[in-house]
Amino acid sequence: MKILIATEKPFAKVAVNGIRKIIEEAGHEFALLEHYTEKSQLLQAVADVHALIVRSDIIDAEVFAAAPHLQIVVRAGAGYDNIDLATATARNVVVMNTPGQNANAVAELVFGLLLYNARKHFDGKSGYELKGKHIGILAYGNVGKNVARIAKGMGMEVSAYDFFNRIELIEADGVYAHHNRYDLVAKCDIVSLHIPATPETVKSVNREMLELMKPGAILVNTARKEIIDEPELLALFKERTDLTYITDIRPDLHDQFVEALGDRYFAPPKKMGAQTAEANINAGLAAARQITAFFATGCTTFQVNK
Ligand code: 3PG
Repeated sequence: MKILIATEKPFAKVAVNGIRKIIEEAGHEFALLEHYTEKSQLLQAVADVHALIVRSDIIDAEVFAAAPHLQIVVRAGAGYDNIDLATATARNVVVMNTPGQNANAVAELVFGLLLYNARKHFDGKSGYELKGKHIGILAYGNVGKNVARIAKGMGMEVSAYDFFNRIELIEADGVYAHHNRYDLVAKCDIVSLHIPATPETVKSVNREMLELMKPGAILVNTARKEIIDEPELLALFKERTDLTYITDIRPDLHDQFVEALGDRYFAPPKKMGAQTAEANINAGLAAARQITAFFATGCTTFQVNK
């Protein structure tokens, strides 16, 4: 079988080498498309492949149509909102993710962003410490759980809300469980978003929720830009000059955020949360193993389009 890694934002070299080894040792053919800039390059590369490993790369109906032999797509990462699941299912293509594999990397970046903000972008001005601050985690999946662990290590007060109401899971980690996400937003100095982009969550972080934020509070988003109602956030944060928005994912309205909020806003040029060697190795190798197991035994653990 021919297995292609197609990553516009590449994995670390060490991860690519590990993926290649797993694929070739299982007797399959390895192919690589990195840093592609045009969709036509992706469409051409998938023409003869049986399996695909991607990151946030958009795998839509056009890509599926260009890949007549495709049997499986593994999103090396958590969120699979970039993959057209309905088309995959209609074409009998199995789609999987690799849950938890890059969660620590994303959680560490939350604190990288928070420290950058707390220490005034390292410009020499006096900042503040995270110890003693109250962080609210929305919601409590793999990344949220890692954020809680690190926050506790930093001496922060930690609360969380879980969409599946898994109160015991949160409390078992020594974290205060909120029964209502609005309550969490109203009580915390820092609100950290870990919500997947689904039809139910798109634009769910809106004015109604954000106007509850405490004076001087910080919103940190390492999840998806789609969960934010950008015009509502922008309008509210222009009025509430005490609030700060720091995000790993550039909003569509980035330029307007820069202009209106200045230092109360930060977003790197590319999403960096999962961009570590360790996360790439964990997620990339898991993806390769899931594909070789699928071809060897039909194993469909982690399939998301059942
Ligand atoms: C994920 O959903 O796993 C993260 O957002 C990481 O995405 P990336 O692989 O595109 O960096």
